[in-house]
Amino acid sequence: MAKVATCTAPVNIAVIKYWGKRDQKLILPVNASLSATLSQSELKAMTTVAVSKEYESDRIWLNGKEESISNPRLQNCLRQVRALCTDPELATAHVHICSNNSFPTAAGLASSAAGYACLVYCLAKVFNVKGDLSVLARQGSGSACRSMYGGFVRWDVGVHDDGSDSIAVQVAPATHWPEMEILVLVVSDARKEYSSTTGMQASVETSELLKYRAQHVVPARMAEMETAIHNKDFQTFAKLTMQDSNQFHAICLDTYPPITYMNDTSRRIISLITKYNSFQKEIKVAYSYDAGPNAVLFVESKNVPQLLSLIKYYFPPTDDQQYYFHGFTDATSIHDLDGDIISSIELSPSSGALKYIIHTKVGEGPQLVSDSQEALIGSDGLPK
Ligand code: DP6
Repeated sequence: MAKVATCTAPVNIAVIKYWGKRDQKLILPVNASLSATLSQSELKAMTTVAVSKEYESDRIWLNGKEESISNPRLQNCLRQVRALCTDPELATAHVHICSNNSFPTAAGLASSAAGYACLVYCLAKVFNVKGDLSVLARQGSGSACRSMYGGFVRWDVGVHDDGSDSIAVQVAPATHWPEMEILVLVVSDARKEYSSTTGMQASVETSELLKYRAQHVVPARMAEMETAIHNKDFQTFAKLTMQDSNQFHAICLDTYPPITYMNDTSRRIISLITKYNSFQKEIKVAYSYDAGPNAVLFVESKNVPQLLSLIKYYFPPTDDQQYYFHGFTDATSIHDLDGDIISSIELSPSSGALKYIIHTKVGEGPQLVSDSQEALIGSDGLPK
């Protein structure tokens, strides 16, 4: 009989970005970072791990397809969880791993973060490993360590060479800022040209701005961001979020040869948000972009209807985009825009530029799925 655990884990979006490693193997960052964990109602990874003496080898299936188990990052996670397992029978048995994402892989939606967080959480459940697991998740994918907790999460840069103090710490729980809502504007769900891993390595090797940022910008920004979150100070939170996203993309351009993750639609969204905030004479919406063209917008609940109207006006769906709005309980909240907003924002609408829009909130960390029916692996040890 196999011992089985099924878990889910969230995506996280950094508002102070991680970009650059000082140790490639242990995945130690050059700077601290801070993120919001997204609710799992819309986006999540789900993994089942089954461990049995009867299995002949370790095997893994990702989104239904068997993949090589020899991936070094995967091997790191497996080896370390087994080393911490106190039951020698269990620690030497083989695992079958099956993992699915509820969103496009590698589309810049932090799928590797959710995936590795989920894998480590699930492995720890079957191998009875307790304690801080963020240090293990970090070795799968750096940003995965922040998906080990809900709410707002800090990843400490650490000073030890072995990485033992480069861990994730919850700054505020998921319930702390209920007025904070998040919209993901999916510009493209294609696989990105440059993975974060190769992109950040090129930046570490060639960007002077990266060094300056790590030394002189991030430490102060981290402290300011934590205070803004504690005080639910949207103005400061939003400004820092946009500045940090801008700086990360500036580093990408400062990389030689340059890396670009944003496209024309991404830049049009920035322009729309900037003009809207200046029309309102205060920051109503903040944008953030990771290693891809998709925009993540932070907005307080009271401003969601107007933001949606704005998006619908400037990025209208085409007739065949029936499933444009995901995760909205009340689509009737989309109303017509006031004429004075339209005349002040000088931008022409572009239909069909967005694939779809996901509405979500800050959410909880990884969860154990108690219903065994939901397991992704059947009693034969293979994906269902
Ligand atoms: C732009 O965690 O995907 O999303 O550690 O090489 O796996 P590896 O990189 P990854 O990088 C994420 C970069 C980012 C910013 C962030 O999430 O902080």
